[in-house]
Amino acid sequence: MITIALSKGRIFEETLPLLKAAGIEVLEDPEKSRKLILTTNQPDVRVLVVRATDVPTYVQYGGADMGITGKDTLLEHGSQGLYQPLDLQIAKCRISVAVRSDVDYANMVKKGSRLTVATKYVAISREFFATKGVHVDLIKLYGSMELAPLVGMADAIVDLVSTGNTLKANHLVEVEHIMDISSRLVVNQAALKLKQAPIRRIMDAFESALG
Ligand code: PRP
Repeated sequence: MITIALSKGRIFEETLPLLKAAGIEVLEDPEKSRKLILTTNQPDVRVLVVRATDVPTYVQYGGADMGITGKDTLLEHGSQGLYQPLDLQIAKCRISVAVRSDVDYANMVKKGSRLTVATKYVAISREFFATKGVHVDLIKLYGSMELAPLVGMADAIVDLVSTGNTLKANHLVEVEHIMDISSRLVVNQAALKLKQAPIRRIMDAFESALG
């Protein structure tokens, strides 16, 4: 049995064509079903539906043999013990700093200043601002980061930006591009040894589908 951990939403949708290239079709829609273990057309392949931030954990502890997860999640939550053979070039976006459109960011980050930053990417933010030499107080949030500057709780946010529509709708502007993000295949190292042939077959199919 090969078990693949995926999160619902963009990663799931953009993974389906890759699975198809490997001859795997998921037989249930996670948006409609409440099942957490989905069957596929291959009796020996199943898909687990997990929270995006839990994908590396399931793979690390062997709950899943492989998974697909964003570079943001791997950087923020660690990638210990995970083999990362492929950048799948899916769910592409970027991590950026954004502020209210009516504030002067350049002035905010002047030497010696202190910035309050709301984010779910605490580790990435800490490192980014440390490299810039800007002191930051970080406020950890789990979603809707865009609200924090609007209600006076933070000077800036660090969040994923894709189309930029969420920022625009909330009168925020992107002021720094921290890094580009895409999703990676992660594989449990023991599984790679014990189930080498089927895992390699899936990895090779993904790789050829990438072109
Ligand atoms: C992400 C991110 C932004 C939004 C950006 O949230 O946190 O809110 O997408 O996309 P846009 O630039 O195309 O508007 P997501 O929908 O992934 O949900 P989340 O809040 O759970 O992270």
